[in-house]
Amino acid sequence: MQKLIGIKKINIAVFISGNGSNFKNLIFYSLKKNSKYRIKLLISNKRNAMGLQYAKKYKIKKKIINYNNKKIAEKNILSELKKNQIDLICLAGFMKILSGNLIKRFKGKIINVHPSLLPKYKGLNTHQRAIDNNEIYSGCTVHYVSTKLDSGKIILQKKVKIFKNDTAKKLAKKILKQEHFLYPKALNKVLINL
Ligand code: GAR
Repeated sequence: MQKLIGIKKINIAVFISGNGSNFKNLIFYSLKKNSKYRIKLLISNKRNAMGLQYAKKYKIKKKIINYNNKKIAEKNILSELKKNQIDLICLAGFMKILSGNLIKRFKGKIINVHPSLLPKYKGLNTHQRAIDNNEIYSGCTVHYVSTKLDSGKIILQKKVKIFKNDTAKKLAKKILKQEHFLYPKALNKVLINL
């Protein structure tokens, strides 16, 4: 933890692979007056991830991790986490699966946002699968990361109604909007128990 003029701030690393709208949103919340955390590090497995622009804009240290070899990739990640004294990891559209070793090293300290009402629709292509199954609701979930994919303890969820004319793209957009409310709220809940 970082001591800032008497206030202990939690050091967070955000992991992304793409647009980084959740990353940008978490930066926004971290800059609020009474925020208990600061985003100290951005990890991306994609050199051209759109979200990297926010690290530049807000002067957050970024590290691009080459995933050609997962073992080496995670070794580099662990070294960055240590170097930057990271207390908590927020996965935000990170499309790589972390190994059991890394998860155990950060036990109870990795959270993720997933675009479905878990335990329904783990994995990829969640929106189309929910539409194809004629679901009335989908939504988003913030959960702890465990060694089983998208199966860790749920922190918070938000339901989103699926309309008859919703396409996967439309639904993804509606859900993403809710993720931007849910993730900071869930993060605050996690910080109380950290
Ligand atoms: C979000 O909808 C997030 O829930 C999803 O990727 C999107 C990332 O958007 N994550 C997963 O599907 C993880 N399995 P963003 O890059 O704009 O934050």
